[in-house]
Amino acid sequence: MSKSAAELVFQNASIVHPTGVEVGDVAIAAGLIVGVGSGLTGKKIIDATGLHLSSGFVDLHTHLREPGKEEAETIETGSRAAALGGYTAVIAMPNTDPSQDCVAVVNFVRQKATEVGLCEVVPSACITVGRRGEQLVPFAALHEAGVRIFTDDGNGVQDPLIMRRALEYSRDLDIVLAQHCEVSRLTEGAVMHEGECCSALGVPGWPSIAEELMVHRDIELVRLTGAPMHFLHLSTAGSVELVRRAKADGLPVTAEVTPHHLALTDDLLVGFDSVFKVNPPLRTSADIEALKDGVVDGTIDAIATDHAPHAAHTKDVPIDSAPPGMLGLETALGVVNTALDISVVRLVELLSWNPARIAGIQDRHGRPIAVGEVANISVWSSTATWNVSRNEMASKSKNTPYHGMKIRGKVKYTVFNGELVVDNERAVR
Ligand code: DOR
Repeated sequence: MSKSAAELVFQNASIVHPTGVEVGDVAIAAGLIVGVGSGLTGKKIIDATGLHLSSGFVDLHTHLREPGKEEAETIETGSRAAALGGYTAVIAMPNTDPSQDCVAVVNFVRQKATEVGLCEVVPSACITVGRRGEQLVPFAALHEAGVRIFTDDGNGVQDPLIMRRALEYSRDLDIVLAQHCEVSRLTEGAVMHEGECCSALGVPGWPSIAEELMVHRDIELVRLTGAPMHFLHLSTAGSVELVRRAKADGLPVTAEVTPHHLALTDDLLVGFDSVFKVNPPLRTSADIEALKDGVVDGTIDAIATDHAPHAAHTKDVPIDSAPPGMLGLETALGVVNTALDISVVRLVELLSWNPARIAGIQDRHGRPIAVGEVANISVWSSTATWNVSRNEMASKSKNTPYHGMKIRGKVKYTVFNGELVVDNERAVR
């Protein structure tokens, strides 16, 4: 294909490669990258001077709420929020209603997302039927239907025998189990992190040990079975240390951290504002420092949003009855870029390359910016600052904890399968 036949060209972009940043043009046609170099032209030309161009972001942890809670989010509104956040793929968590524990529901989610076409929605499936922790889902049938990540997220799998069996099945298939680490007996009624602030407020606490006990148990089950495991939304210093040691032992574990656990602390709950209620809860600044150390030294593999929309009528209630969860997709880059002092190469590794690999979608996401690759691309500024407003979210829900905050880092363009789906900070549909 001649260079002038390109449909879309980003000129003068700071292209993020694993080896470093290189300034150049990127040309796209028929869904693919058709040119990387200089002096490229095409039908639509975008001046990307001063902007980073990378493979599109991949979110390992998105709650899309459809089917079942469409008043909070739909596959369409969630896909739009994802595209605006620079994501070309999101892993849809299975705590829908009905839950994603069978092929029919998984196929429904995938089909609906394909019709929307703003990003790829990759359904995860439950580990246990109905996420009840009692009976394993049909792993082989779901694997056959293309599922690669299994999780009961929202709940941790409490029963060690169930977890052991799940790992034994997964070992023989090309899948990964993703654990929400929470010993629920220790968190009954919890509203926030168990610590000084919680004692002062006199509300039930969610102790760090409730997460760390399950991280520890599952590391030992990985050691026993040899099956891989991904740890979702780690929030405590102790969890980071456990994963660090497991990796040093050569165990096949990976871990993610959310933007909010890197940026927000438990004392925000002092006004009992349920927008700051999340599971696992916001922790202390010492935990944040430990999570950041884990990000820097490679203990943490990925940043994942845990985008958890909740409709206002369910969230704006007394804190003890409000559901946990906060929006994340549209603010992730800005929050993480503001909170962390890391290179753009490491940032893209955490937001794109590593999560694509963990999710098993590295054949089409998190790819090199090179000729012949599928054009799943994000173009963003690491210096642009903006004020977050809950009224300007594409998500159907408004529960962003960053309302009124200024953050640095903004997605300008997103290209999904060669189509420009976000153009100058606006979704095309
Ligand atoms: O805060 C959370 N919200 N944590 C979870 O694990 C589930 C999620 C939800 O579905 O709302």
